Amino acid sequence: MGNCLDHSLNFEGSQNTSDQSKTITKTSSGTVPSTITCSPPSNLTAPSYGEKSGSDALITPRTEGEILASSNLKDFTFSELRNATRNFRPDSLLGEGGFGHVYKGWIDEQSLAASKPGVGRIVAIKKLKPEGFQGHKEWLTEVDYLGRLHHPNLVKLIGYCSEGDDRLLVYEFMPKGSLENHLFRRSAEPLSWAIRIKVAVGAARGLSFLHDAESQVIYRDVKASNILVDAAFNAKLSDFGLAKAGPTGDRTHVTTQVMGTHGYAAPEYVATGRLTARADVYSFGVVLLELLSGRRAFDKSKVGVEQNLVDWAKPYLGDKRKLFRIMDTKLEGQYPKKGAYTIANLALQCISHEPKQRPRMREVLTALQSLHDAKDGPKLLQIERKDVPVKLPARYRPSPRMPATATEALPLPFPKPATPVR
Ligand SMILES: Nc1ncnc2c1ncn2[C@@H]1O[C@H](COP(=O)(O)OP(=O)(O)OP(=O)(O)O)[C@@H](O)[C@H]1O
Ligand SMILES: [Mg+2]
Repeated sequence: MGNCLDHSLNFEGSQNTSDQSKTITKTSSGTVPSTITCSPPSNLTAPSYGEKSGSDALITPRTEGEILASSNLKDFTFSELRNATRNFRPDSLLGEGGFGHVYKGWIDEQSLAASKPGVGRIVAIKKLKPEGFQGHKEWLTEVDYLGRLHHPNLVKLIGYCSEGDDRLLVYEFMPKGSLENHLFRRSAEPLSWAIRIKVAVGAARGLSFLHDAESQVIYRDVKASNILVDAAFNAKLSDFGLAKAGPTGDRTHVTTQVMGTHGYAAPEYVATGRLTARADVYSFGVVLLELLSGRRAFDKSKVGVEQNLVDWAKPYLGDKRKLFRIMDTKLEGQYPKKGAYTIANLALQCISHEPKQRPRMREVLTALQSLHDAKDGPKLLQIERKDVPVKLPARYRPSPRMPATATEALPLPFPKPATPVR
């Protein structure tokens, strides 16, 4: 779930009326404090997404009752989920985000009823902090979107719980957790180049599906912690609490309160609150940079330009000879230079300051897919093997040096013809 990035904007002409009157305090801690307590049942509405054609696809705000009644999701009781997680025991904890904790739990394969720990199917249960309106709103948006959207690259929502002030969500369990943990956790086994590409393809496919849906969905929270991976590193997008219906008819954008995460949010969206699918493309470009560099989008522990990954990495992306300087040292040089350069170019286009210069997600997907399917793909997998030590020439060894000056963005037009990796 996301953070509010800016509280000083005036909003005009919003299509999504549910956002217009909210004032949410800016925070850098990842939590969104709110003084409004949530008292269900509420008549909060969320724009609905229709998968069908014609009038069924229209975006109509629906009440909470309508959303919950129409979903095929299981309505769990709080005590069921408490039992499924051994009373939310700390050793069942899978992770923590700004809005709550995620626990491992067990449900019966057939009936979906909560079962004894260790018996049946493993699920991930997100328990939202009882912090009021914003948390509830995102919970409802998540139920609304994930209750209707089904795709192999979107995490599956199995059910929910709404009891008193408690709001929970029950998802399919993603055994390898988040991309964020794999890239940035000290104890994590480094991700190989081939796995990085695979994860990028999966996330891009999920986003393309959302953007190209008959009623477009803008995800608004693309970041490494929201990209989850299964045992085979198939990636799925999670957290639809910030999702928005895209513009309809002649409209070019939707105007919303600025929500998102520092380092990932597109500059024009932060500045104006005007949201288009190209804002997701920007954030995806930032994730590509994280995959290349192994650095966080925004890192407070660093100083100056190094705090912001886009600012730091941009000057190197269009320069074949300098690119190695930003590559993740954990790759130990085990990546194809041509492939890395292709990804760097793609990232550079995704993070274009001008939204129209950014590619569409389907174009990003095509480019990534061709890299993934390249006929020498097996060669990429080969270099994953840890038992083949490769000594790199000195000039290809990663260096922490900073450039003296910024270079120009690469003048390549998009889409670039599919280039097999050699
Ligand atoms: N379905 C799941 N299966 C396995 N682990 C999960 C699942 N969902 C979430 N997690 C784990 O829980 C962590 C916290 O997730 P959560 O979505 O609450 O927060 P976040 O994405 O890190 O931050 P934010 O609150 O900004 O969204 C994830 O990073 C991941 O490690
Ligand atoms: Mg998340």
